[in-house]
Amino acid sequence: MDKMDLVKLAIEAREMAYTPYSHYCVGAALETADGKVYKGCNIENAAYGPTNCAERTAFFKAVSEGDLKFTQIAIVGAPKGEQISDFCAPCGVCRQVMSEFCDGDTFLIHLYDGEEIRSYTLKELLPLSFSL
Ligand code: THU
Repeated sequence: MDKMDLVKLAIEAREMAYTPYSHYCVGAALETADGKVYKGCNIENAAYGPTNCAERTAFFKAVSEGDLKFTQIAIVGAPKGEQISDFCAPCGVCRQVMSEFCDGDTFLIHLYDGEEIRSYTLKELLPLSFSL
């Protein structure tokens, strides 16, 4: 899928973010090898620790439905009620989850600041990743 179309789905996903604590809303759209798209938003919790990032929501939805091969993800984030105006890079935990399922050299991570898309391979964002 065209990366801007994937960004649009991430913006759509962000609408569902549950963020009563940080008020920072993130959306992700994850494409599978066969062209399916899973959307995810961040889901916060009063105990903070159980909070799930948008990217992991998308991955866990996909994996729990039997999809294990992925090509790209688009991620957007901004404070609640605001337009996207900065890049939202995935946290370290999400990068590690991506590395479980994705090829570092080919899996693409698209970040959007409201004007421009910047794309990175997973290896660029997580060099020398841990695996067993
Ligand atoms: N967040 C994400 O959804 N993805 C990231 O990669 C970084 C952080 C969320 C978690 C929390 O709900 C909010 O952004 C503020 O940290």
